[in-house]
Amino acid sequence: MRSFAIAAAAVAVLPGIAALPGPSHKANNLNEAAYKPGCVLKTDVIVVGGGGVGTYAAIQLKDQGKKVVVIESKARLGGHTETFIDPESGAPIDMGVKLYHDEPIVYEWFSRFNLSTSRFDLSAVASLGSSQNVDFRTGQVLPALPALNQTALAAALMRYAAVLQKYPQLEGGFYLPDPVPEDLYMPFGQFVQKYDIADAVQFIFGLTSAFGDILELPALQQFRTMSLGLVATTNNFQTSSVNSNSLLFEKATVELLAANSLLLSSKVLATERVGKDGGVKVLVDTPNGRTLVIAKKILLTIPPTPAALAKFDINQEELSIFGQFQAVGYYTSIVRNAGPVNVTVQNLALDQPYALPPMPAIYNINPTFVNPSLSLVYYGTKVGDILSDDQAKAAIITDLKRFQAANGLPATEPEFVAFSNHSPYNMLVGSEATKNGFYKQLYALQGKRNTFWSGAAWRAHDSSSSWAFTKNSVLPALVASLG
Ligand SMILES: Cc1cc2nc3c(=O)[nH]c(=O)nc-3n(C[C@H](O)[C@H](O)[C@H](O)COP(=O)(O)OP(=O)(O)OC[C@H]3O[C@@H](n4cnc5c(N)ncnc54)[C@H](O)[C@@H]3O)c2cc1C
Ligand SMILES: *[C@@H]1O[C@H](CO)[C@@H](O)[C@H](O)[C@H]1NC(C)=O
Ligand SMILES: *[C@@H]1O[C@H](CO)[C@@H](O)[C@H](O)[C@H]1NC(C)=O
Ligand SMILES: *[C@@H]1O[C@H](CO)[C@@H](O)[C@H](O)[C@H]1NC(C)=O
Repeated sequence: MRSFAIAAAAVAVLPGIAALPGPSHKANNLNEAAYKPGCVLKTDVIVVGGGGVGTYAAIQLKDQGKKVVVIESKARLGGHTETFIDPESGAPIDMGVKLYHDEPIVYEWFSRFNLSTSRFDLSAVASLGSSQNVDFRTGQVLPALPALNQTALAAALMRYAAVLQKYPQLEGGFYLPDPVPEDLYMPFGQFVQKYDIADAVQFIFGLTSAFGDILELPALQQFRTMSLGLVATTNNFQTSSVNSNSLLFEKATVELLAANSLLLSSKVLATERVGKDGGVKVLVDTPNGRTLVIAKKILLTIPPTPAALAKFDINQEELSIFGQFQAVGYYTSIVRNAGPVNVTVQNLALDQPYALPPMPAIYNINPTFVNPSLSLVYYGTKVGDILSDDQAKAAIITDLKRFQAANGLPATEPEFVAFSNHSPYNMLVGSEATKNGFYKQLYALQGKRNTFWSGAAWRAHDSSSSWAFTKNSVLPALVASLG
């Protein structure tokens, strides 16, 4: 504190000295005069987070003639979209975001980079191997279950969709009627009984995944992802036509770097969202030194946890809203020697309602097919229970070894070839907060303090609907506010 006060006093007395890098520089100075011109970037909009949503927003803004600077903490764009290149075959393996809706916004976004999608043929992929159900609490392979009754599933999905059709505004985001109807905040398990959709629960769980205890969570938490758009697309999922969903982000990286619009491997040190001159200032630690970014507006697309927002000039109102969020832990990995070759393993617990597996546990193991020794292993936790990388890795190995031991499989040592921590995942609030207007308060933050918000927390862990939310609900007001 004291050295900061002395530095500030020195600047006040000797303004000439302020231009030199000195102690004031180190103390997260947001005064433009303290930086050499080459260390200052002026722009219309700062986009924080270059994942699925931030990258989409940045390119849309650029295409509308706005200047943007994207600040991304990792060395790459893409966020949850990750593609591992198998060193043996050179083939791409998508270990994160892979499937998109059959909707114009998806086709337009891919064609923006001269890329295309094609239908993801689940049955063709399934036919390459076989499948097993495993109870990971014991590791035991379960006896084959009767084939899924497609007629019953379709009928249950129709009943589910019929309820959603009463709330068409939910397709655009958390636009809940006021007062909030009980159907939206009642626990999903109760909703399943009320509308007789038991035959679709496994299907919904499989698609929305990583949702922890879905039966106890408000039904709205299923609706946000299992939207009418997703229900309509289930037979026509789209994926990168070259099986590499990171390609789009690689192209966006080249384009944003060329426009001096991208700071990768960069850490925000301090922010002033409403400065004396009315604008936004963000001090960023980049691989090329400190950069002061000055903008009219800021768009935050990172998971809005109080801890992450500490560097972003969070105020009391925001803290009291974001402090209510809870999330699950979600971990993806590519593991050598995970189990039997070319076998898809699904975690099921036959004694539980709808056979949903209790978390924390492996959700499923998927063969990569491009390399028989490599499998994709997905692991998740309960709401509020987030593990460190080391804890998650140890838990995955424990589940895999229990599975190998219980079935007399050769005790090969599972080995991580790639690992990714996607936590905090699926930020959500419970029934009480949902009923009491949480989402109205959340959305009322849009535009306040020069700040706009997007990302999965604001819509869903669904790229297509999060892009639509960004395009329709965030960018028009943001662009209008630039004047
Ligand atoms: C394993 C997995 C599979 C998925 N599969 C699909 C799928 O098939 N289809 C689908 O539609 N959705 C899928 N999703 C959901 C996915 O989360 C969303 O669709 C979408 O990626 C969300 O985009 P986002 O921009 O909100 O988050 P992210 O893509 O996570 O982007 C956030 C970005 O912010 C960066 N960041 C975080 N903190 C900071 C900070 N302080 N400063 C600077 N940068 C920061 C992160 O590094 C990241 O790049 C999947 C998610 C996971 C985890
Ligand atoms: C897409 O292709 C067109 C025509 O070849 C070219 O003009 C344009 O620059 C390309 N865009 C990108 C992002 O690659
Ligand atoms: C499948 O479900 C439908 C609708 O619930 C039912 O009429 C039919 O008997 C079921 N078929 C089988 C083989 O169980
Ligand atoms: C696994 O699948 C791949 C891709 O279809 C195939 O080439 C390979 O022979 C299969 N291996 C086994 C052991 O089934």
